[in-house]
Amino acid sequence: MTESMTGAGDYAGDEQEFTQRLMAFTELAQLGDFARGCQRCGLRAGCRGVVFGEGEPHARLCLIGEGPGATEDELGRPFVGKAGELLDRILEAVGFTRQMVYISNVVLCRPPGNRTPEESEIAACRPYLCRRLALIDPSIVVLLGATPLRALIDRRAKITAERGRWHRLDGRWILPTYHPAYLLRSPSAKKDAWEDFRMVRELYHRLHGTGAAV
Ligand code: URA
Repeated sequence: MTESMTGAGDYAGDEQEFTQRLMAFTELAQLGDFARGCQRCGLRAGCRGVVFGEGEPHARLCLIGEGPGATEDELGRPFVGKAGELLDRILEAVGFTRQMVYISNVVLCRPPGNRTPEESEIAACRPYLCRRLALIDPSIVVLLGATPLRALIDRRAKITAERGRWHRLDGRWILPTYHPAYLLRSPSAKKDAWEDFRMVRELYHRLHGTGAAV
């Protein structure tokens, strides 16, 4: 079989069939392999590759950003540029490591010039996001910035209004907070983000104790 016969590009037309195809994957790695053949929107044509996500496949804490930037596209890993360095420091400050959590993005391919993904691109990638969350099955999901907030909670929501407010979705605790790139541009917002991550740590310990990460 050629890649085009097995990859996600085949499912551009029929949403129901596409969702069913994703539902058949029981392992994150299978979903990742499938997603790497995706051409459901125009983003894949303009980037080097799919940045699927990384971390503990059954993490109790998941972090979702907007989409890969230039460094992420080059290295094939999420949050490895300047914003990623800040995210690592924030996680470390509240007692988490990258190995304990799972980090991913709303869209798997870099938007040109790092622009915000369009609604149609978010819609094309949302089934991967939903299946990713179902397979990882985290109890807590942190949404980094407005794009994941709008993709998962409410397409008209404002991050300034929603940051630090817990939501419930499919039995999970969801917390929107500022995107680390915004924190780099607006250092005065860092104290709100620290507060948010302290709440995440508290809930994580309440739900899972202080022991093993998974
Ligand atoms: N910004 C994001 O939203 N995601 C990344 O992976 C990197 C930067």
